[in-house]
Amino acid sequence: MLGVVILAAGQGTRMRSEVPKVLHPLCGRPMVFYTLDAVHSLSDLPPVLVVGYGAEEVRRAVGESVTYVEQPEQRGTGHAVLQARPVLEGRADEVLILYADMPLLTAETLRRVVDARRTARAVLSILTVVAEDPRGFGRVVRQADGSVARIVEEADATDEERALRELNAGVYACDAAWLWAHLPLLPLSRKGEYYLTDLVGMAAREGHPVVTVAADDPTEALGINTRVHLAEAEAVLRRRINDRWMVAGVTMIDPQTTYIEPTVAIGPDTVIWPNTILRGTTVVGRGCHLGPNTLIADSVIGDRCRVVASVVEGAVMEEGSDVGPFSHLRPGAHLGAGVHVGNFGEVKNARLGPGTRMGHFSYVGDAEVGAGTNIGAGTVTCNFDGRRKHRTIIGEEAFIGSGTMLVAPVRVGHRAVIGAGSVVTHDIPDDTVAYGVPARERRKVEQP
Ligand code: UD1
Ligand code: CA
Repeated sequence: MLGVVILAAGQGTRMRSEVPKVLHPLCGRPMVFYTLDAVHSLSDLPPVLVVGYGAEEVRRAVGESVTYVEQPEQRGTGHAVLQARPVLEGRADEVLILYADMPLLTAETLRRVVDARRTARAVLSILTVVAEDPRGFGRVVRQADGSVARIVEEADATDEERALRELNAGVYACDAAWLWAHLPLLPLSRKGEYYLTDLVGMAAREGHPVVTVAADDPTEALGINTRVHLAEAEAVLRRRINDRWMVAGVTMIDPQTTYIEPTVAIGPDTVIWPNTILRGTTVVGRGCHLGPNTLIADSVIGDRCRVVASVVEGAVMEEGSDVGPFSHLRPGAHLGAGVHVGNFGEVKNARLGPGTRMGHFSYVGDAEVGAGTNIGAGTVTCNFDGRRKHRTIIGEEAFIGSGTMLVAPVRVGHRAVIGAGSVVTHDIPDDTVAYGVPARERRKVEQP
């Protein structure tokens, strides 16, 4: 059985942050989740997450899908792995070790490292990467015959070693018995830490060849030590996500400025214009036009919708509805099929029935509007009396004149017509014309 150990105890000093490094988000998700996803398919044993700095915060964010062990003091990566021994010894005959600050590693690459050790019957296999920018990684030092001699950390390297471009990516597959026997023997480094990387030299000195697996795609080995690295990784991940959606039939006018979180789904023939951000649980249908300059979070967008230069959060837009430019759908907004919300509109906790139109600078909150109603420019549901929120109900096929104030709680009937500039303070029955301040019923609507 394969045991998996993920090291996440460090503060990430170089991030200069109070937030534990592994909780810094990448495309909207804490980076540790990418590592957890990558190892998910490798073993039936839950991964062991070594936590230390901000342990409580990390536990709260990650939840119960992993086994936690604490490393109370951060005495190095070798010391961190040792904390997992009581959980894995006797249960796993091989151990995969990786760091939680390497979120771009894929399951396939990890699997290759595990398989390479098995095939060679070696005690240790490691992932290496050849890159022009060494980014502070440990260097792989080889002997004249090409075999791996050891890994030297950048801080301890000679100028000659520093010039090496074969780097230690930080993924190790080990024979479990050999690992547990050798971890306690790691020497204390000059920095006062026990380096996991010194296992490589130990194996070589004992005459165990160390197997190396080279990463096919060097971007997979982007470790995150600083916020510059975080932005680099974000760019790589964004490209991976965007490529996947373009292959699946989504058009992006400018993928560089299209930001899609990994949890989002998008239908084919949807076109995404520049500076558009799709977040969280958002699901977009087919044939939509989104953007430019649009943010959509945790929302459901039906087929053939349009959103231009607007913000849509926690909302539902049914088929063929459109929003913007410069409008805001807030949580609980639900636009029926074909609804039109034009410019400077705000809808919150309200349903607009199919075909309803709200073209210009209106606020509809805590409301229910029937199908086919026209909401004139500058209509406001006055839903808040200073203490409580109240509801506004508007019927079907109603006509709300420009500049109407609807003082909730209030109900406007089906097919009612409200004159421009009215302040509606009491219910207006079906089929009546009302206007004035306060609005009064004046007559029945004339049938055409
Ligand atoms: C480490 C490797 C380096 C490799 C690089 C690849 C060591 C000594 N060096 O360097 O060879 O090229 O990763 O990314 O392993 N951690 C703990 N407890 C500790 C110390 C660290 O859990 O006491 C965790 C950190 O939270 C982090 C990971 O181990 O997730 C790696 O630590 P970090 O300080 O980032 O190591 P690097 O300097 O990047
Ligand atoms: Ca690191």
